Amino acid sequence: MPDNMASSLVDSFLSSVYASVPSQQKKVTAFYAATPEAREELGVFLSIYQPVWQQTEIGGLEGLAKAYARMLDEVMLCRKDFMRSGTYSMASQADAFEHVYNNHDQMLPYMLGLAVSQYLWQSHYQILSFFKRCVSVQNPSGRFLEVGSGHGIFLNYLAGKTSPGAVIEVVDISSVSIALSKNLLAATNPDAAKRIPFFESDIAHYKAQKPYDFIVMGEVLEHVESPSAVLQSLKVLLSENGSLYVTTCVNCPAIDHVYLFNHVDEIRALISSAGFTIADEVVIPSEESKSLEYHVKHKLDILYAALLKKAK
Ligand SMILES: C[S@@+](CC[C@H](N)C(=O)[O-])C[C@H]1O[C@@H](n2cnc3c(N)ncnc32)[C@H](O)[C@@H]1O
Repeated sequence: MPDNMASSLVDSFLSSVYASVPSQQKKVTAFYAATPEAREELGVFLSIYQPVWQQTEIGGLEGLAKAYARMLDEVMLCRKDFMRSGTYSMASQADAFEHVYNNHDQMLPYMLGLAVSQYLWQSHYQILSFFKRCVSVQNPSGRFLEVGSGHGIFLNYLAGKTSPGAVIEVVDISSVSIALSKNLLAATNPDAAKRIPFFESDIAHYKAQKPYDFIVMGEVLEHVESPSAVLQSLKVLLSENGSLYVTTCVNCPAIDHVYLFNHVDEIRALISSAGFTIADEVVIPSEESKSLEYHVKHKLDILYAALLKKAK
């Protein structure tokens, strides 16, 4: 799609977002003034993802903007609850499965909202940039696994950067996520769509034929009751010199978050006790001008992403 068409898709999409959530205008405008490439990437994303959301009942750009607005609303309500109670509202993985992952009407707009946030939120865009940096140092013909591909954006990027001989496999507990990821691949990389198998399963029950060289697991650790058990099972799935890309967050209430990290050091300690070392990491406080300790004290979101290796 020519640049000017992608740009007009962005304009229409943003006006729908601002009509639903006026407070987004100031934030997004400031973000794009500082990071114009994020706006361009939103244009590319909207043009390639168009057939995907159009095949769903979400419909056109306005529907996508509404899905995003709904996700923001849900996050805001979860945050209010969290500030009052100090805990996440989803008590167990089983509840998250019943109310979110296995609930099409809830999961579809949630995943689509999360998809566009990759290009609308400075913090999510930074995570995506870190992911690209981690992918750039991998052997493009290795064995890859993504756990919890969700909307499919990270998977789609990975598929575009690996060679046709690479093995890529995906495990996700939600049939809605699997359908979205498959559709995104089919729209952008039909060859990859044909060769990538998807397993609808909890990662806790997933068994692989052979170890993987690179495992990607973005925003899953906070969705499980025992992040330590999940990291240990990924260690078994990873080859001796393989790398694990993982992201999670501190104080980040959402409709399906179960495990609360109170501090980045808790995440680092968990990584170390599961037998990994940190090769690279980014820590992204949601309020750029405030310190990490301020975030911890006031229970504000901190995003965390790391590239891990097995400890020798
Ligand atoms: C918040 S989305 C993350 C999407 C994407 N990876 C990202 O970083 O933006 C979480 C995804 O993990 C999946 N998921 C949650 N718990 C899981 C589990 N125990 N095993 C496998 N997939 C899981 C959900 O269905 C969803 O697709």
